[in-house]
Amino acid sequence: MLEGGAVLLFSALPFLLTNAETSVVCAAGLDGSAKNISLDPVTHQCKGSSLTGAELETMIGLLKRFASCATTLVEGLFPAYAEGLSCARTSFRPVEIADRRTSWRQDDKRLHVDAFPSRPMQGRRILRVFTNIDPDGAPRRWRIGPTFEAYAQQFLPSLPRANPGKTWLLEHLGLTKGRRSRYDEIMLFLHDAAKRDLDWQRGTPADDVKFGSGCTWIVFTDQVPHAAIAGRNALEQTFYIDPAVLARPETAPLAILGRLCGTVMTTSKGLTA
Ligand SMILES: [Fe+2]
Repeated sequence: MLEGGAVLLFSALPFLLTNAETSVVCAAGLDGSAKNISLDPVTHQCKGSSLTGAELETMIGLLKRFASCATTLVEGLFPAYAEGLSCARTSFRPVEIADRRTSWRQDDKRLHVDAFPSRPMQGRRILRVFTNIDPDGAPRRWRIGPTFEAYAQQFLPSLPRANPGKTWLLEHLGLTKGRRSRYDEIMLFLHDAAKRDLDWQRGTPADDVKFGSGCTWIVFTDQVPHAAIAGRNALEQTFYIDPAVLARPETAPLAILGRLCGTVMTTSKGLTA
């Protein structure tokens, strides 16, 4: 179901905070450098937070604890993923989404599937675990839908040709971590085309879903069109999944795009779709 595009909802799976963590969650603000507070899984550096000293250390501890719990949850639910699972950034999203003003490309209130401009996925999947920890109980509201196939079919007719010179240059200037594959180019194009098209944003069918405080949900955000339209104080853990460990690779965006584009797309490990 997850690989088919479902959002798995655990309506009573809270992430319990200590009193000190609750105080820090209530006090946490952004330093203006990023839209979230996040922890690098390798360096354990925390960026985006205006917290300092002991409060910052408490926030880092909270993020590490959430990363550990989310990993246990995913490995427990999907044992077959364990071999191909890598733990990416952990984030805390303190700001009320409804009030946030951003550029259209960064506006996550618009339906989109996730694609990273500077980090080519080359066919690896983006799986995310979210938990709403708002101390006042405010729900997090998403719009979800349509299917990935409908989303892709809407915008693929205006897909530009591949641009190998540009992807080479971006890599050699250090603007991308590795080379963008054709898959990455298409996923970024779809992300931007969807967010730019306000008529499609208004007209496309999507469900309005509320994730209450104490909810946890898991979703392949590179596959399920989603928009976060309201809410604050959510935790999120990103995982990259090697396509070799998927149970139903034919449902992945790589396979769907290969079919719709009538082309063979390769992953970083040479698997084809
Ligand atoms: Fe997203």
